[in-house]
Amino acid sequence: MEQFSFKERIIFALVLCFVATVSGQSFPCVLRETKYGSVCVCNATYCDYLEDPTPVDDHKFVVVSSSKAGLRFDTTHGLFNLFKKHFIFDYDMRVSQAQKQPEFSSDRVNDKRYVHLEINREKHFQKITGFGGSHTGAVTYLTDQLPPTLQDHLYESFYAERGIGFNLMRIPLGGCDFDLSPWAYNEYPENDAELTNFTIDARDELRVAQIRRLIEVSKVKNLRIKGAAWSSPRWMKSNNAWTGFSHLKKEYYQTWVNYHIKWIEMMEEQGLPIWAISTGNEPMNGVFFMFFVRFMSLGWTPKNQAIWLNDYLGPTIRNSKYKDLVLFGNDDQRYTYPYWFKMMNSTRENSLDYLDGLAVHWYWDEMVGPSLMDDALKMMPDKILLTTESCIGDKPWQKAAPLLGSWYRGEKYARAYLQDLQHGFNGWIDWNIILDEAGGPNYVNNTVDAPVIANTTDFQEFYKQPMFYTIGHFSKFIPEGSIRIESKRSNVNVDEIAFLRPDGTVCVVIFNSGKANVEVSVVDSEHGSIVLDLPAKSIHTLLYT
Ligand SMILES: *[C@@H]1O[C@H](CO)[C@@H](O)[C@H](O)[C@H]1NC(C)=O
Ligand SMILES: *[C@@H]1O[C@H](CO)[C@@H](O)[C@H](O)[C@H]1NC(C)=O
Ligand SMILES: *[C@@H]1O[C@H](CO)[C@@H](O)[C@H](O)[C@H]1NC(C)=O
Ligand SMILES: *[C@@H]1O[C@H](CO)[C@@H](O)[C@H](O)[C@H]1NC(C)=O
Ligand SMILES: *[C@@H]1O[C@H](CO)[C@@H](O)[C@H](O)[C@H]1NC(C)=O
Repeated sequence: MEQFSFKERIIFALVLCFVATVSGQSFPCVLRETKYGSVCVCNATYCDYLEDPTPVDDHKFVVVSSSKAGLRFDTTHGLFNLFKKHFIFDYDMRVSQAQKQPEFSSDRVNDKRYVHLEINREKHFQKITGFGGSHTGAVTYLTDQLPPTLQDHLYESFYAERGIGFNLMRIPLGGCDFDLSPWAYNEYPENDAELTNFTIDARDELRVAQIRRLIEVSKVKNLRIKGAAWSSPRWMKSNNAWTGFSHLKKEYYQTWVNYHIKWIEMMEEQGLPIWAISTGNEPMNGVFFMFFVRFMSLGWTPKNQAIWLNDYLGPTIRNSKYKDLVLFGNDDQRYTYPYWFKMMNSTRENSLDYLDGLAVHWYWDEMVGPSLMDDALKMMPDKILLTTESCIGDKPWQKAAPLLGSWYRGEKYARAYLQDLQHGFNGWIDWNIILDEAGGPNYVNNTVDAPVIANTTDFQEFYKQPMFYTIGHFSKFIPEGSIRIESKRSNVNVDEIAFLRPDGTVCVVIFNSGKANVEVSVVDSEHGSIVLDLPAKSIHTLLYT
């Protein structure tokens, strides 16, 4: 990378960009070296995109690659059954090989590590609901300050097909910690069980306008919006405060249900139908973790939540015009699974029947294994299982701020997505789609990293982190309705997962977290074999029909 100056790389990108425009194709990443690695730079007039690279022809395949060295959605095309090795050149080599055809060779260079992958399209597992991010108050606040065309690039980058193809979105009912201050609807008058003052807030108007624009420019099909409340108005709570040890006062159980219904009606009137809600964000925060959590939270025990769900929320929703609303339970950390649901079931035996889905936050996944999720799915096999919140920088030992360019953080995402999808998850919703350089704004300074970081000096640029691309290696290529199929690896030199898409394309995500190249031979049950040579520290999506 060193032999090319920043300027030369920009020129290179522009040449590619020109070629791309002429052929109606894609826009490559404008790579910039930053403190912890490299990011892709977007401004009002330029942002990187990859048009659908899926080969239409049988016997052809395409590999889309990203790497620590600097590949970002680079494509390599090839044919099945050539008994030749297809080299995925890493960034440094890619730049120097610019106009050359990739060379094929059947000899093994060096002493390469080797993996054999078998893809069996006959064996089916879970169906994909989709992937997404969250439109918090912080996202609305930052996005609003970008020039309109850069706002459009943000929306397209996440939700367009030529972006990373998100179709899910999580938004808070009222405020959350990623906001300028805590807030809820109908804060006044207090003790107003009839919610006589439930009106749209100016912050909603801005968020709604942004989401409508997002739908328009990204042309996202079937955007599914999921709502979650962090806290009720203070007057409904035992402690009459935003945070701390709390529970919902019994006399407001029905009011809290009506609050959710009023919110859904309000969003619908604004042109944004709501797909799902959860029973509330991180209920444990107001029960066990009130000494650590300083932001808006409403405490629930599984016992009380079972009563609220079974006697109030469930029956009201199912007897309303929103009877098909998707209800998610828990919306908290993996370590509460499946215990939380067992407790609910022992309080109200049929309460779990009201739930369509299980929502999990990934924060402690590295501490507690996925077997808890296997147990939960065994207990409730027909529920939609989604990760509904994830970000890095929340732990005391992590830097509570964006690390611009960190491939290490991108890898954490790759590993986590692979693990969850291998354990029956139907999709993943990440946290804030954009944050500032400090990882905020957050009204209690609970700052973290995000896949896109705004430059708030003059709001003329934003930066796509490696995390953006590792998420994209899944979200862009595995649309809603895809079905996981069997893939077997001969050893752990790479990790992988395979899907059959609704359009008949097979999609295999292959992750090499090692410090050396790996030779991967992929054998498809119908098509035959491909041999790939994958660079160190890289992730790939292989597509063929
Ligand atoms: C936007 O980015 C493109 C590509 O890097 C660059 O050519 C152009 O000068 C940038 N525009 C501004 C206003 O900086
Ligand atoms: C209704 O809510 C608004 C804030 O959204 C507040 O300014 C107003 O005082 C409230 N009305 C009453 C009667 O409390
Ligand atoms: C709930 O508990 C009952 C026994 O009280 C049991 O039969 C049922 O299987 C449990 N449901 C789930 C989903 O575990
Ligand atoms: C957040 O950080 C800023 C700047 O360091 C400080 O002024 C402010 O008091 C902090 N807020 C909280 C809630 O800790
Ligand atoms: C943010 O923009 C300012 C002003 O253009 C620039 O000096 C700074 O280097 C940018 N930050 C990054 C991380 O590129």
